[in-house]
Parts: sequence; structure tokens; C-alpha cells
Amino acid sequence: MPARTARLLACAFAFFVFAAVHASAGPASTPPPDQIDDEKVNARVAALLKQMTLEEKIGQLSQQFVFGKPDEVEDAVARGQLGSLLFITDPAVINQLQHVAVEKTRLHIPLIFGFDVIHGFRTIFPVPIGMAASWDPLVEEKGQTIAAQEASAVGINWAFAPMLDIARDPRWGRMVEGAGEDPYLGSAMAAAQVRGFQGPYIGSPEHILACMKHFAGYGAAEGGRDYDASYIPEDQMWNVYLPPFHAAVKAGVGSAMSAYMDLNDVPATGNSWLLEDVLRKDWGFKGFVVSDADAVKNLKTHGYAKDLSGAAVLGLTAGVDMEMSQGPTAYSRGLAAAVASGKVTVQQIDEAAARILAAKIRLGLFEHPYVDEARAKQILATPEHRVASRDAAERSAVLLRNEGHLLPLKPSAYHSIAVLGPTADSQHDTLGSWTFQQDMAETVTVFNGIRSKAGSGTQVSYAPGVQIKRMIPSMFDVIFHEPPVAPWGTDQGAAEMQKAVDLAKNSDLTILVLGEAQNMSGERASRESLELPGQEQQLLEGVVATGKPVVLVLMNGRPLNITWASTHVPAILEAWYPGTQGGNAVANLLFGDVVPGGKLPFSWPRDVGQIPINYAHNTTFQPEEQARRYWDEESTPLYPFGYGLSYSTFSFSNVKVSQSSVRVGQSLEVTADVENTGDISADEVAQLYIHQQYGSTSRPVRELKGFSRVTLAAHQKTTVRFPLTPDDLRYWSTATRGWVQDPSDFDVWVGPDSRAELHASFTVTP
Ligand code: NOJ
Repeated sequence: MPARTARLLACAFAFFVFAAVHASAGPASTPPPDQIDDEKVNARVAALLKQMTLEEKIGQLSQQFVFGKPDEVEDAVARGQLGSLLFITDPAVINQLQHVAVEKTRLHIPLIFGFDVIHGFRTIFPVPIGMAASWDPLVEEKGQTIAAQEASAVGINWAFAPMLDIARDPRWGRMVEGAGEDPYLGSAMAAAQVRGFQGPYIGSPEHILACMKHFAGYGAAEGGRDYDASYIPEDQMWNVYLPPFHAAVKAGVGSAMSAYMDLNDVPATGNSWLLEDVLRKDWGFKGFVVSDADAVKNLKTHGYAKDLSGAAVLGLTAGVDMEMSQGPTAYSRGLAAAVASGKVTVQQIDEAAARILAAKIRLGLFEHPYVDEARAKQILATPEHRVASRDAAERSAVLLRNEGHLLPLKPSAYHSIAVLGPTADSQHDTLGSWTFQQDMAETVTVFNGIRSKAGSGTQVSYAPGVQIKRMIPSMFDVIFHEPPVAPWGTDQGAAEMQKAVDLAKNSDLTILVLGEAQNMSGERASRESLELPGQEQQLLEGVVATGKPVVLVLMNGRPLNITWASTHVPAILEAWYPGTQGGNAVANLLFGDVVPGGKLPFSWPRDVGQIPINYAHNTTFQPEEQARRYWDEESTPLYPFGYGLSYSTFSFSNVKVSQSSVRVGQSLEVTADVENTGDISADEVAQLYIHQQYGSTSRPVRELKGFSRVTLAAHQKTTVRFPLTPDDLRYWSTATRGWVQDPSDFDVWVGPDSRAELHASFTVTP
């Protein structure tokens, strides 16, 4: 057997075992079909490669954007010069182009169609940072299962999600697309999303291939400026930024996207340490790697490659199998010549093409290349999807403040309600970024949600009060094709503000919706300030000055400066961009049909100057002064990581560790009792934090190592159990430049957020 075939066999075998293991852990127990049988996949890949010309192989490595003009790529598809297309969502166009690939190319190799299915397709779920705030991996899994079902119904085979970038700088706009600051929470959400997209195995019916992105370190862009370089020390890389990606690999993710930025001066898309050493060699990833859009060509922009041909060589040899590109790829222009000049071997091209072909085989694309256009409509109209989206929005919301039990609202207490704020009746802003296929008509704004909940006996009125707008427009604005809103002049602005304040004055209650418009959070949506945009703060202060009860509902994808609101507004609910059913979810939460139970997936700063502020920091001197590191502001967050209130109350007690002392390599269990001490059924998220007191390096003051969202009836008590395995206790040590588990003494806390007080301890001996 030739060495190459043997390698492919070994590679495919490992993938099969991996997928099978994943299948056994998944929700369904359908046996994997032939399409993922290792030997069969391998034989088919090898047989195809044998027949392919070099140009056809390079064609498989090229992916191109299609923005509504399929004829522009038809010829290239017919010549076998493209392996994948992205951004097509019309099933008829997908079939048309697939027909060209399958019928007109020499070897009938189907295309794989990719799309940014980030938080839903037609049914939009809360943005990922909101889904993470549910602290409920099942909500994530269900959301992405539905997203996969809807996307696959139109012929999309591949989602460019989940985004697994840890974000500790909220100036970075893409914080909205991830799970926040913590590697443990991020890892749980990563695995859940992979399960949701892919189902029990790659190629599961009504599922699609997931693509973890952006590998890796993108969230640490300097100054929070999107696309700028990241400088991440090796221990932070291993202990903070890489774990969610590793969790996704363990969950069987089938593809990865290389990131845009320089990582420690080596572009992620040309970074063989990331793509070969970590991803493939260390973690055993068997899927394929796609570049981010134009990231291969940008290797030249980085000052890394001399020219586009050099970029193609550096991208491929670093481990990028497929190049995503607007227009022809650098691969299509440069790789054949690179083979001729010996800069790239045919074997390297074969390995990349093999990984992509294997994915197409596993997805069943050779057997079922076309999509049923009639069925698509039916799937997209499934009412249960809307129910799941509302449920997710309800579980994602975080109650930040509730003075004097203003919430839940008593419906009969208010004859008139003013719903105010620039996004309170905006469907786009209810959905958030990365939404393209939603049905606007069925998107429920907060105003509409409150109106239908309050019923005919209550007058619900709306006024925007202010307009908010980016100073530099978003590249996504054109996609929505919305007629531009005429900006108010100074006089009209003052009149609109007054109108809103008057409405608050003349109403029994105001629900004020503030935050950011959807285009203010997301790609290329970085900010240097975290202030409420435009004149929102003035509107807030004007409304509060009326003396009437005010509930502040926030719709945003990053923490904003609400320090004034946190002492002047009695009730604050963080709703994120809650999705298709957002308005109904907010109404259910405010009126108490549902009790908020979400928790913050990041530490909420008081002001931008505190950044970075994350709970898992080290303390090296005078920890008792931790809150007084600045002389002009407290150095604690406004709200800690893991924080969130409820309409009920909870108490934690009886924390126990199964053994007071274990050896390195042994596991133990931490248990604690959680009691709902209130009179209504509600959810609490029990959180386990540890602290290693000494060791080969200094360790963070606290690290999340377990969580469990439990629903408890009034006065019900339960015991939560958290296993602590050697994996939970090990970390990558700068001192040894490797993974260690130190003998040490450990603190353990269990409680409702990262300030948990219930304490126990244990020792790890050599
Ligand atoms: C660039 C973004 O960084 C990435 O997240 C996205 O998947 C691609 N564009 C395709 O839209």
C-alpha cells in the first residue's frame, strides 16, 4: 500500500472512531451509515484523488463568495475550479449550481455550500453571548439543532459557527458572537453547539457541518480593535483562549476557520504552530481548515508573504486546506506553479483535498447533492421553532437589579405603560447581528410584546426618544437594504426627547429599552467607549426624573456603562438581542410568566478604563486592597461574572468535598445544597469555583470548574454535584512549559456567582 494511502486510511479511521465515540455520546442512537464508514470513505477519497488532475484538486481547495449572481461562478464550477461556495440561501440557486458541479464536471464532485448560521437561520435565537448567559448547554444545543434543520432545508451544508473566541475586552465588537470571558463556560457552550449543528455524527439527517472559529486568539485584538494583532502569552493561550476550541474538537467538530489577525507576530492563517502542532498533532483534529474570508491573500497585507503566490504557499503549508475568498483565490492562482517549482508538494495538495472530499462524502453530498425546494418552505414555517426561540430568549435574560420588587409587574396595577427607546420597536435591533434570512413580519419587538401581554385594558404607547447611529457606518448596512432613516435635526431631536419624557410622565410605568443598535455589535463594530450611544443617557435621566416607576431593558451584545442606572433605576433586565420572539420573551419575563434565571458570562465593568477586568485574575500583592487598585474608581466590576438575580431567593449550604486529600491524578466530588427560599418556582445556577493556593506558577484567585442550572419549586432544596477530575486541576505551566497538576492546597466555593462565599478545601498530594 503506498504511504499516502496508508496515511489517508489512518486519518479516516481515526476520524471514524472519533465520530463514533461522539455518536454514542449524542442524543440520538441512530447507527452511523456507510457514508461515515472509515474504510469506505477512505477508499472513495483515494479513488477520486487518483483520477483528479492537479487543477481539479486545487479546485477543491477554493471557496468563493456568491452575492446573488450565480452566473458569475458557473463557468468556474463547471471547470471544477471551485469546491465550495458561500452566501447562497436560495434553494433553487443552490440546486442550479450543484447541478453544474455534479453534471458538468468530469468527476461529478458536489459543492459544499457554507453560510454564517450564527444564531438561527429563519428563526433567530438570542445572540451567542445571550445563549451563553443561559448557562444551559441544552438551550445552545437545541438552538443550533433548529438552525441546522432550517439551514439544511434550503441546501446549506456547513455553518461558519460556533465562534469560540474568548473575549475579555468588550470594546471588541465580536464579543456578541461568543460565550464571554471564561474558558470553562466557553468550552461547555462550544461542545453543545457542535452537537446541535452536527447531531450525533457528521452527515446526520437535517444537520450540517460545524466550523469552529476563529482559530485562535482573535478575541485578544489589541485595544479591542477588530482585526488588529493579538499578543497572547503561551500560558494564557493554553489555559484561556484554546480550551473552547479543544472542547469542540473533542465533541467532533468537522471543520475549523483560521483567524484573521497576527498571533504573536505570526498570522493565524499562516501559523503552523496553531494549525499543525496544536490542532492536528496535539489534539488529533481530523477535519479540514478553511481560512477566514481573504485571510490567505492577506498574508501579504500582514507583511508575512512577499506576494499572492507566496501567500498561497504559506497558507497551504501552514495547514489551511480551503481558502475562502471574494473572487478567485490565491490558491487557484498560485498553487500549480508552486508545485512546479517545488515549493509545495503534490502530497500536501492531496492531503488538503482529501480532508475536504472526506467531509463531502461524510455529509452524504455525493448521494444527495440536491435539496427539496418544496420541503424548505414547510420546514422554515415550523411553529415549534418560534417557541424554542422564545424559550431561549427567556432563559438567556439576566436580571441585574430589582429594587423594591418592582418586578414582576402586576398587570392590573398599570393603566398606561410607556415603552420608550430607539430600539424598542425595531425588528432588526431585536434580532442582532448576523441575521439575513429572518422573517421580519414575525419578529416581535419589545413594544409589540408588551402590547399584546398587557391586553386591552392597558394603554401601551411608544416613542423612540432619541436616534442612535454609528459614526462610521457598518459594512452590513447595505445587506439589509433598509431605506435610510432621515436623521432628526436639533429641534426635532429635542422635541422627540421631550415627547418621550412627557409620555413617561403621563404613564403609570415606563419600560425604557436602551443599548446598542444591532450594527453596533459584531464584526467591525469595535468601540473606544462603552457609554450608552448617542443621547440615551440623557433620555434615561429625563425619564427617571419624572419620578414614575421605570424598568430598564437592555438590548446589546457587550457590557455598557450603566453605572448611573445601577443606582437610579429600580429594575434592570439584560435581554441581549433576544431574537425572533424577543418581545414576547421580554414581556413574559417582566410580567412574571417566566422568572429570570440567566447569569452574566462576563464581568461587567463600571467604565471602559477598567478593561480588562475578569474574575479569574491573579493577585500578587495586598489582595485585601483588590477593590482599591484605582484611586478614582472602585476596581471591582459593577456586576461580577456569573451574576444574575431572580424573582425568588436562594440559599447555599452544606458544601462538602468527597475527600479532604487526594493524590495527583485522582478525582473527587464537591456537593452542596441549594434551596429556593422564596414562594415561587425559579431557576438558580449553582457555580463551583476553585483556587490553587501555590504551585509551579501563580494561579487565578478563582476559576470556574462546574455549574448546574436547576429549577426548584418554592422552598424546594436539592443537592448539586460537581466532579473535579485531574483535568480540571491541571493547567499549562509557564515554569515547565507543559501541562502540570501540582500538589497543592485548594479552596472551593459554591454559590450563585463568582463571589460565592460557601467555602471548603482539599489537598492534592504527590
Ligand atoms: C468574516 C468573518 O470573520 C467570519 O466570521 C465569517 O464567517 C466570514 N467572514 C464569512 O462571512
